[in-house]
Amino acid sequence: MNIPLLDLKAQYATIKDEISKAIGEVLESQEFILGPKVDECEKAIAAYSQCSYGIGVSSGSDALLACLMAENIGPGDEVITTPYTFFATVGAISRIGATPVFIDIDPATYNIDATQIAAKITKKTRAIIPVHLFGQMADMDTIMNLAEKHCLVVIEDAAQAIGAEYKARRAGSIGQYGCFSFFPSKNLGAVGDAGMIVTNDAPRAEKLKVLRGHGAKPKYYHRVVGGNFRLDAVHAAVVSAKLPHLDSWTAGRQRNAKRYDQLFRKAGLSIGLPAVTTDRHIFNQYVIRSTSRDELQGFLKAKGVGSEVYYPVPMHLQGCFAYLGVKAGAFPESERAAKESLAIPVYPELNDAQAQYVVDCISGFVAQTTHVPAELSRA
Ligand SMILES: Cc1ncc(COP(=O)(O)O)c(C=O)c1O
Repeated sequence: MNIPLLDLKAQYATIKDEISKAIGEVLESQEFILGPKVDECEKAIAAYSQCSYGIGVSSGSDALLACLMAENIGPGDEVITTPYTFFATVGAISRIGATPVFIDIDPATYNIDATQIAAKITKKTRAIIPVHLFGQMADMDTIMNLAEKHCLVVIEDAAQAIGAEYKARRAGSIGQYGCFSFFPSKNLGAVGDAGMIVTNDAPRAEKLKVLRGHGAKPKYYHRVVGGNFRLDAVHAAVVSAKLPHLDSWTAGRQRNAKRYDQLFRKAGLSIGLPAVTTDRHIFNQYVIRSTSRDELQGFLKAKGVGSEVYYPVPMHLQGCFAYLGVKAGAFPESERAAKESLAIPVYPELNDAQAQYVVDCISGFVAQTTHVPAELSRA
């Protein structure tokens, strides 16, 4: 059996006509930059995320960057975040000249351990960027309480978490800003790079709209330096066409996650399973843990099962951040997750037989290796 990590062609087959129509309308209009399709998409994503405003941008990476720019964060400022994330989170902080300050993760959820944040807040701290990793939101109550107490801005990196909920509140709606990525492999993907910022704050929304167009307002008059962070109409049209399907795709991912949990438990396997600690985990990834992770990945590949390591090197150990002087061992849980975690196929179209095959393969691997069990997550 051949089971990829993600089967975008299977999804496309079910919505081909809607996507063609959406793209066709953009082509007919010849309005490619911002315009009505982008407005429509912004309104729809903001409403879906329980927010008042959506600002379409060129990518999730630029969404983060634009929010930091909107807060005038720069050299001499510190921004607190997790080292166990995709590069863009920390890259944005570094690009505006601020200093990333890392907090280790909670090993159960892979999200920032909010209980450790207070100890790292200094006079220079300006913002916290929690990352809702793999589709589950971070501990937002603790984060927001600290942020309010110390007058910090919270930028939710919700690139992997559109529609996720924490105490019935949607990803992106709790902090001052929420940043989404519509990278094609995300749960809601465009046909290339695209993203969006959501906020409930009118002045911040207005500032972001100016920043995404080189800081011009009116056209050709620049009081601030922004960038070209605009969302293309073709991506907006595709995202709007896909949005009505998102909840059923999420339900498919959740069904598959539950099925895996049951199958793994039934098989009595000593692997770490994902812990669900919030109301709505949208399973952008279903991540297991194994102390023999690399061997397991090779074994699965030979059996035709796709998997991926998110992420093999935590940010404090990346070469480009060596200047921060953070040594190996500083964030043990992030470093352990980087060695043990493995994402397996959980895409909505994965069927029973395929899920069973994946679990059978992993059982086969465990049976044939002298496997040291990874500590079971606090599920
Ligand atoms: C956690 C996280 N932050 C930021 C990004 C950046 O998004 P994009 O790829 O759209 O620039 C991604 C996407 O890959 C991500 O997973």
